[in-house]
Amino acid sequence: MSAPRHDPVLLDEALALLAPGAGETAVDATVGLGGHAERIAARIGPTGRIVINDLDPSNLRAAEARLRALPAPPTIETIHGNLADLPRRLTDRGLAADLVLADLGFASSQVDDPARGFSFSRDGPLDMRLDPSAPETAADLVARLPEAELADLIRRFGEERRAGRIAAKLVAARADAPILTTGRLAELVRQAVGPRRPGERIDPATRTFQALRIAVNDEIGSVERFVGAVGRAARSPGRSWLAPGARVAVIAFHSLEDRPVKRAFADLARAGLADALTRKPIRPGAGELDRNPRARSARLRAIRLPSS
Ligand SMILES: C[S@@+](CC[C@H](N)C(=O)[O-])C[C@H]1O[C@@H](n2cnc3c(N)ncnc32)[C@H](O)[C@@H]1O
Repeated sequence: MSAPRHDPVLLDEALALLAPGAGETAVDATVGLGGHAERIAARIGPTGRIVINDLDPSNLRAAEARLRALPAPPTIETIHGNLADLPRRLTDRGLAADLVLADLGFASSQVDDPARGFSFSRDGPLDMRLDPSAPETAADLVARLPEAELADLIRRFGEERRAGRIAAKLVAARADAPILTTGRLAELVRQAVGPRRPGERIDPATRTFQALRIAVNDEIGSVERFVGAVGRAARSPGRSWLAPGARVAVIAFHSLEDRPVKRAFADLARAGLADALTRKPIRPGAGELDRNPRARSARLRAIRLPSS
């Protein structure tokens, strides 16, 4: 079997906004399989430095190997952790980034591997942790939460109107036997909501899976903390993990994770603390969508801090 591939989303657009220059310090906060990082690293060259971070240690290793294989790689530093903790970890190392990319969500290596438990189309353990050392899996969450909290989570993070029915079904089912696999969860959701309606494009389980993945990995909280740190850096120019003139770009895949980015970047631009590099989010063009349908929900926003 070939190695998992991930087509970097909005690659040219992100590079144009981040404008990596020779000798700069770049940070890829969610490096995945290193598609974006490879191109950034080639631009900053051997006099530059790239810090790569991911919650998933296997992706981090794969990305590092990819960058080290470049003909003239920059200095490479790897950090295993949440992007929300990256500002502190960069500060601890005395680093200030000239450009930062956060390409949120999950990589094809994760969703395509049934053993990681993200996929409702192939059976596997109900896991969904991006960081396999994190304490709580999706199965733990489904077993632990009271019905009302489960319904609230599915409604909020899955934007699922039928959350009440689904939570009731899961709570009734778990009383018989724990829900431990993606296949069983998907089947229970389908039973709760009934057959796919005419015109319904997505599997009925899609939203519930999204909700659990977001909750297990605290995806929205992480993005909020990350953009909060960008805001604080912009308010203390020259004394932070972002260098003067730093560019920060975020690619989000659903409105829940895009919302805090949109709000934080707009606030900074309004306060004159950063220039908005994207007045509206940049979306993939038709050519990219033909090549990579998984890019369809992507949206890219970017800002630049003042140079002095
Ligand atoms: C869409 S992929 C990145 C793909 C990458 N840009 C590339 O070109 O290969 C998202 C990656 O972000 C990681 N990730 C998601 N949320 C994270 C977080 N809060 N902190 C750190 N990494 C995270 C995932 O483990 C995954 O590897």
